Amino acid sequence: MTIETTSQRSLPRTGLAALLPQLDIPGSIQLPDGTIVKVGAGEPIYRVIFRSARALRTPMTELSIGRAYLTGEIDFVYDYLRDATKMNAKAIGEHYSRSDDFYLTFIDKRYRMYSQGLFKSQDESIEDASEHKMETMFSSLGLTPGMRILDIGGGWGGVTQYCGARGVHVTTLTLTADSARFIQSLITEGNLPGEVFLQDFFNHKPQKPYDHIVIFGPCLGTPGPGGKMYLDGSAAVTKYSPSAFTREYIWGGTHTFFTLQDVIRELLYHGFEIVDVARETTDYQLTMLEWAKRLDAAKETIIAGWGEETYRLFRLFLWAERMHSSRIVYRRIISSPNGRLLKGLAHLRCVECYKS
Ligand SMILES: C[S@@+](CC[C@H](N)C(=O)[O-])C[C@H]1O[C@@H](n2cnc3c(N)ncnc32)[C@H](O)[C@@H]1O
Repeated sequence: MTIETTSQRSLPRTGLAALLPQLDIPGSIQLPDGTIVKVGAGEPIYRVIFRSARALRTPMTELSIGRAYLTGEIDFVYDYLRDATKMNAKAIGEHYSRSDDFYLTFIDKRYRMYSQGLFKSQDESIEDASEHKMETMFSSLGLTPGMRILDIGGGWGGVTQYCGARGVHVTTLTLTADSARFIQSLITEGNLPGEVFLQDFFNHKPQKPYDHIVIFGPCLGTPGPGGKMYLDGSAAVTKYSPSAFTREYIWGGTHTFFTLQDVIRELLYHGFEIVDVARETTDYQLTMLEWAKRLDAAKETIIAGWGEETYRLFRLFLWAERMHSSRIVYRRIISSPNGRLLKGLAHLRCVECYKS
């Protein structure tokens, strides 16, 4: 059968096939004779296959569409994973495109954490706050020498440095080439037990189960049965709420922060136990304040090295994060009593991303 692209004029005027071109999502429609109609602007991310002329006119109701799918008159092809990993690479790649030296002008000098520290008092340094964060993670997971953990989103290797020095093997995933190089040299120079992969977590296939997982940042992972995840990160009060400015300049693309309610619901549904949830919003704000002050102190260096716009952008970002009223930051410790994590994981992908 010859597949060729044809125009939207060949579509009927009513029913499902007529509606798809009105959506703001690029896709393609396969007509019963095999020809393809592209709809929306940009590279198609889904295809709807119609196997009969009647199927093209399927009424826009859940019952009719469900029935047409059951009888095989329509089919859907949607590579969600490809879409999610592409978007991750875009958002992360752009945000971290300024070289290590830039971020190191304002984050802590001891573990170089690009996430909130844990403050025992308001006036302690972010170096000490990062140390407390590591201590808390290490004891919460009950880490001992010889264990293997997965660190998803390794940044500048704080987990490798802290856990590696205590005999715990750390496999790190990161999406940024600079970060992978940085962590590899930490491992080599410090002779630390660890490895680093420039790989999206969604594509990671563990060689053997990890004892536990650390995520100081964005997504979820797969320890073996009985394993725990230590997850800290920003959640939004409402989903799909990143501002236009954030999506244009800070974290590019169509993403959303987690909401705590979604994550907890999905975890419970998929058989996880939630061991502890702690609010770290104040720690986050203190961290942002300290980063913002250090950024200001390095103003001349930053403008000379990365330009005034980068300085202004991060100034706005850090001070705004410091004030943000709809950002809540939580630590979650989750255990997996029955090892059903891969299934839960597939579901959680869906709460992380959306198309605008
Ligand atoms: C906010 S930084 C946090 C870094 C580090 N965990 C810390 O707390 O300092 C996010 C890191 O996660 C990585 N990352 C983001 N999404 C990822 C994904 N889907 N798979 C693997 N790494 C990811 C980025 O490349 C970056 O290294």
